[in-house]
Amino acid sequence: MIEKIKATADFLKETTNFKPEAGIILGSGLGGLVKAIDVKHEFEYSKIPNFPVSTVEGHHGKLIFGILEGKNVVAMQGRFHYYEGYPMQEVTFPVRVLKMLGIKALFLSNAAGGLNKSFEVGDLMIIKDHINMFPENPLRGENIDELGTRFPEMSEAYDTKLIARAKQIAKENNIKYQQGVYVGSAGPTLETPAEYNMFRILGADVTGMSTVPEVITARHMNIPCFGISIVTNLAEPDITDKPTTHDEVQNVAEVAEPKLTLIFKELIKGL
Ligand code: HPA
Repeated sequence: MIEKIKATADFLKETTNFKPEAGIILGSGLGGLVKAIDVKHEFEYSKIPNFPVSTVEGHHGKLIFGILEGKNVVAMQGRFHYYEGYPMQEVTFPVRVLKMLGIKALFLSNAAGGLNKSFEVGDLMIIKDHINMFPENPLRGENIDELGTRFPEMSEAYDTKLIARAKQIAKENNIKYQQGVYVGSAGPTLETPAEYNMFRILGADVTGMSTVPEVITARHMNIPCFGISIVTNLAEPDITDKPTTHDEVQNVAEVAEPKLTLIFKELIKGL
C-alpha cells in the first residue's frame, strides 16, 4: 500500500512540480470552488496511476492543482464513495497521496440530510464532530506506521482553530451557519424514517455518505481537518409524501455552494 501511495505521489510531483499547502475535497454539486482556482495542472482521476475511477452523477472526477487566494492548493473535484463499491483503502487512497504531496490542512464539503429540527434546506453546517456508522473503519488492518499511529486519537477530528475562524468569517459576511455532528453511513439508500430518527437520537445533526473515512485517514496522519455540510433535504419522519431525490440534493447544493466557497477561500487565505 505505502509503495502505491508513494508511486502516485511521485508521479504527481514529477508531472506538476507543484507543492500544495492545502487539500480540498468537494462534495456532490459543490465543485464550484474550482472556478476560483487559478488552475496550473489538472488530471482526470482515470489518468492518475493507482487512483480509483469515480462514477456517480455530479462527480466530475478531477484532481486540480492551482492557486487559490495566493496559496497552492490541490482540489479533488468529486470523491470516491464507499457505496460505489470501493474498498475503504481505495476510498481513502487520495487523502494519503495528498499527505505525501505535503498538504498541511484538509478542507471537505458534502451534501447531507438535516436531522436537527431547527435546520432548514440550504443551511450550511460547520462540522464539529462526526459519528462513524460505516460498517468498517478505513484504518482496519495492518497499521502503516510511516503514516501514523495504530490507535489514532480522535478528540479533535475537526480542527477547533479552523472552526473558530470559519465562524468569524461567516459572521463578517452575513452568512447564516449551523454547527453540529455529521453521521456518516454507507448508503446508497437514503434513510428510512426510523433510521433518520435513530441518527437523531444518537446525537447527529446531519447525515451523509462520505467525509468520515477521509477525516479518519487524515487524522491518522495528523492533518487538521475542516468540513462543511450543505443541508440538501430534511429528514422529517412524519412527512412521507415528500421523499428525497438525488436531483433535489444536487440542486440545493448548487444554490448554497457560493457561501461555502467564500468560507473555504477565506480560511485558506489565512493559512
Ligand atoms: N441521507 C444520507 N445522505 C444524504 C442525504 C440524506 O438524507 N442527503 C444528502 N446526502
